[in-house]
Amino acid sequence: MSNPGTTKYRELTNTTVADYLSGQSSVAPHLGPNASEWKVSEIGDGNLNLVFIVQSNQGTVIVKQALPYIRARGPSSPLPLSRAFFEYEATTRHSERAPGTTPALYHFDKDQAIIVMEYLSPHIILRKGLVLGNQYSRLAESLGQYLARIHFRGSDLSMDSASKKMDAALFAGNHALCQISEKRIFTEPYYAADLNRWSSPQLDDVVQCIRQDEPLKAAVNELKDKFMSNSQTLLHGDFHSGSVMVTDHDVRVIDPEFAFYGPMGFDVGAIIGNLLIAYCSQAGHADTNDDRSEYSRWILTVIAELWSTYEVEFKNLWLSERTGELYPKNVFPQSNSKESLNSLSRYLTSILADSFGFAGAKMIRRIIGVSHVEDMTTIEDPDLRAACESRALSIARTLVLKRNSLSNVQEAIKIAEKSNSMSCEKSR
Ligand SMILES: Nc1ncnc2c1ncn2[C@@H]1O[C@H](COP(=O)(O)OP(=O)(O)OP(=O)(O)O)[C@@H](O)[C@H]1O
Ligand SMILES: [Mg+2]
Repeated sequence: MSNPGTTKYRELTNTTVADYLSGQSSVAPHLGPNASEWKVSEIGDGNLNLVFIVQSNQGTVIVKQALPYIRARGPSSPLPLSRAFFEYEATTRHSERAPGTTPALYHFDKDQAIIVMEYLSPHIILRKGLVLGNQYSRLAESLGQYLARIHFRGSDLSMDSASKKMDAALFAGNHALCQISEKRIFTEPYYAADLNRWSSPQLDDVVQCIRQDEPLKAAVNELKDKFMSNSQTLLHGDFHSGSVMVTDHDVRVIDPEFAFYGPMGFDVGAIIGNLLIAYCSQAGHADTNDDRSEYSRWILTVIAELWSTYEVEFKNLWLSERTGELYPKNVFPQSNSKESLNSLSRYLTSILADSFGFAGAKMIRRIIGVSHVEDMTTIEDPDLRAACESRALSIARTLVLKRNSLSNVQEAIKIAEKSNSMSCEKSR
């Protein structure tokens, strides 16, 4: 799908998008021939890339183009165009491993760092739905299945060793995006990094406590070690609630530009952490008609059901598709044997422990690091917002520190339900 040869990279604008697309035969079936009548608008609400919506009387497509820098910061913050290549490659693999979970891909241009894909409609970004208080009946099941399928089928449990290593080598090229995660998630929240921000003055003391919290910093670096050196599977890599688009009946996953071979718990933890942020933010979105208490409980059921679906699907795949080098058939001939199922259980326990830890690390970075989330930023009352954030920090710290001693997801949910605000005494 990539254009042959190297043509000079050009940033698309509202006025050049139609011209560019009209030269691409793979896009014609989706928009038809009359390029002069297409409507183009730039809808990117993210930090990194340009995203255009292009509408004709025959259909609509999304055009996503990487910029040679971080969009939100401008040309002084360079970022490789190759992230579009990794997003395209990851979407291709994930759509094969978990059919029906991604937008369809129509066109990819490596030189121009452009992906043209299916326009998801009437889907909305899950994070926005969580702020609005919408329930989605298929959410937990869809997310749990998606994660189990991409994780299992991209790992040494399924792939042959050479293919997996070669693919891991390819995705090692996405190191610039990995480095963003290394710094933003695991490093900057724990020292006075320039771009950090938080609800001040309410959280000033808490931020100081976190920076001096030796057990927490040590645990976060253990997680960072896993993030950097455990290439268990091809992850989504940025699996927060802004990377999921939903309707009542459908759940799709977008934006795997941070994809790399890493620990399975990093994706599971990302979504659990973001759901817990949504949970903590609900008090800030309550009004006289709805105190959001029922909705808050629903968010916790999503976390529990997401993990139970993940376990069930992972087990199905363990029993039926274990064709890789790890736990091989010649060593574990009976998939259903006690020995095999015990190994599966240990494998899942380890993913869950990692998930709790990564969930906590992800929550902390969204509250005291550079990049914040709408769940909290849309709470207008600064004291109420800080109270919600403080509660999230308290949950996060406990999850990071207790990740290896929690025996199931219900224990994590109890921690969330019982938590109050983060207290400095606790973290000393
Ligand atoms: N296939 C799609 N269908 C409909 N809307 C889409 C699609 N892809 C992206 N969008 C919209 O464009 C927005 C930005 O897309 P995306 O998150 O991929 O961009 P990004 O620049 O990588 O953002 P981020 O800074 O979060 O990494 C999404 O939040 C969503 O509203
Ligand atoms: Mg992105």
